[in-house]
Amino acid sequence: MSIRRLHTSQPDSFNFSDENLKWAQNQMKKYPTGRQASAVIPILWRAQEQEGWLSKPAIESVGELLDMPFIRVLEVASFYFMFQLAPVGSVAHIQVCGTLSCMICGAEDLISICKEVISEKPHEVSIDGKFSWEEVECLGACANAPMAQIGKDFYEDLTETSFRDILDKFSKGEVPTPGPQNGRYASEPLSGLTTLTEFNSGKYEANSSVSRALEYGDTIKRIQGNEVPILMAKKKSAKTSST
Ligand code: FES
Repeated sequence: MSIRRLHTSQPDSFNFSDENLKWAQNQMKKYPTGRQASAVIPILWRAQEQEGWLSKPAIESVGELLDMPFIRVLEVASFYFMFQLAPVGSVAHIQVCGTLSCMICGAEDLISICKEVISEKPHEVSIDGKFSWEEVECLGACANAPMAQIGKDFYEDLTETSFRDILDKFSKGEVPTPGPQNGRYASEPLSGLTTLTEFNSGKYEANSSVSRALEYGDTIKRIQGNEVPILMAKKKSAKTSST
């Protein structure tokens, strides 16, 4: 993993949009008085959803909001690689898992495609400004290796062809369906289920994670306003199920 430092080039300021500030203040109300710092991760994430990455002014702004020293917020932002400390592509930042299972199953081929299509070096924005990429550690989807996280969603069971196709679709402004790309429902055996066979007999179109991603449709959106549906605010689709 790369060394995670603040980017050398920083904007002068950061301001939450009115809607995002209201959203952040609502997050803070979830915690007892004096414990508002507990909201640091969702509020940092919201700042990143707004701008695409976390600048020093954004981290300072979150610290002021939560009454936390800058260094404490920076510790959080620099620890988790879900937070981007450098500008990212305007369409998507691609995080390819390079840990054991994914490496055995073809992560190096995916990384080669990133180098060819996006940029030779990780954390560099492509010439057209649309993409950036990095190699990350295990994202916990080892049974669906190799995989990549793009925005909020996992793209799993990737091949060179399906990965190129996904990048191509993002480039055209489409958002490809996340989840397994080889027809698997979730992480069942490649040869098919041997138990609970009635569970995936064509009853459900996609697993619950993919269904929710399709329902929200916000995986790579820059969130300037209150565009993210509140969890469980919508009626559950009859076709969705838990994995
Ligand atoms: S090794 Fe890639 S998700 Fe675990």
